[in-house]
Amino acid sequence: MNDTIRLLQNHRSIRKFLTTPVERDKLDAILQSGQMASTSSNMQAYSIIGIEDAELRKQLASLCGNQIYVEQCPVFLVWCADLHRLSAVAALHGTEAQADTTEYFVIATVDTALAAQNAAIAAESLGLGVVYIGGIRNRISEVADLLQLPERVYPVFGMCLGYPDQAPVLRPRLPLAAVYHQDAYRIDSELPAVAEYDETTREYMTARSQGRTSRSWSEQMAEKMGNPSRLHMQSFLTKKGFLKR
Ligand SMILES: Cc1cc2nc3c(=O)[nH]c(=O)nc-3n(C[C@H](O)[C@H](O)[C@H](O)COP(=O)(O)O)c2cc1C
Repeated sequence: MNDTIRLLQNHRSIRKFLTTPVERDKLDAILQSGQMASTSSNMQAYSIIGIEDAELRKQLASLCGNQIYVEQCPVFLVWCADLHRLSAVAALHGTEAQADTTEYFVIATVDTALAAQNAAIAAESLGLGVVYIGGIRNRISEVADLLQLPERVYPVFGMCLGYPDQAPVLRPRLPLAAVYHQDAYRIDSELPAVAEYDETTREYMTARSQGRTSRSWSEQMAEKMGNPSRLHMQSFLTKKGFLKR
């Protein structure tokens, strides 16, 4: 193994941060590392909004489902898929951007996630901790208004960043056999590996909750998947000019 692999396999989300500020040069290096992620056709179809204003942070923490670390973390970034800049760039050359397609939506969303994850790894390599905040989509329309997001820009997730003030235990993942298929998708291999993982997650949950719960992963996922979740997304995205065809 090497240091990079050790770093990647040591990831855990951090939800409690020291008040120590993140140095500007470190933050710049983190963001520039994010920018160096692969990007579809070099489109770089994302924008990052750093939320420095305290009042704005408070409002966002509330819109994200009262996740207190959104307010308290030293750095909060909102990672947005962005086809607005590309539309403006196309217009420079008299071209009307065809930005309302499902394919461009996928490209912009993937670009955003790749850049964010590169930034997350850069941050962790500097001793910082991160947690993604999908809660930014709980009340996405209000978030978009608050951040003055133009047409064809949507917040994919937020990200808290800072020096960790906790050392959570590593959250185990599915056995590789559950997620890796050779040559073709094999439905038969799905559930045996999950049964093994359920045992692992029961132990993890028991330890993490000091015995209060021992729910298995499949039980947690059954509850999650039984909920359609954020049904406002489709109408929000089409209103913002995405996913029309
Ligand atoms: C897109 C995305 C959105 C997430 N949203 C939240 C969130 O709103 N709040 C939170 O506490 N954790 C959030 N997480 C963190 C996940 O819960 C966490 O990554 C997962 O449980 C695995 O744990 P680990 O990162 O500690 O290994 C999010 C992660 C991702 C990738």
